[in-house]
Amino acid sequence: MKTKVLMVCLGNICRSPLAEGILKSKVDASTIYVDSAGTGPWHVGNSPDPRSIDIAKKHGLNISTQRGRQFSHADFSNFDFIFVMDNSNYDNVIQLAQSEEEKTKVQLILDEIFPNENVDVPDPYYGGGQGFEDVYQMLDKACDQIASRL
Ligand code: 4NP
Repeated sequence: MKTKVLMVCLGNICRSPLAEGILKSKVDASTIYVDSAGTGPWHVGNSPDPRSIDIAKKHGLNISTQRGRQFSHADFSNFDFIFVMDNSNYDNVIQLAQSEEEKTKVQLILDEIFPNENVDVPDPYYGGGQGFEDVYQMLDKACDQIASRL
């Protein structure tokens, strides 16, 4: 059975598609399945934001074939690890949990590199291009850590 990892943000077009693409590039797809989802419904079926596609491409990753989907309660049983990008995502996902076991699967992704500091991956949606590069660098470091312990 594969280990299953889900990356979650709000829209599933900026941060979590990058996290999905970056982690996939660091793990063996035959043993680890990686997916992403958003807590909101607005971008279901959509491609990632063009700025995320561009920053991934700059770093040698193709995330353009990903499509947005909304997080659902079934994801708690379908995934072993649920990494959320910020505290608001954390609250939204935890609200859907129905047991302590489900809650323990949910973790802020930057806890991987800043344990217990409660650090958010900032939402780059309304900002400029540098925000996407900054997000890429944070997620790259966090995914190195995740890949090394999976
Ligand atoms: P993401 O960024 O959560 O990193 O995908 C967002 C993208 C779109 C929206 C919010 C955040 N939106 O409100 O449409």
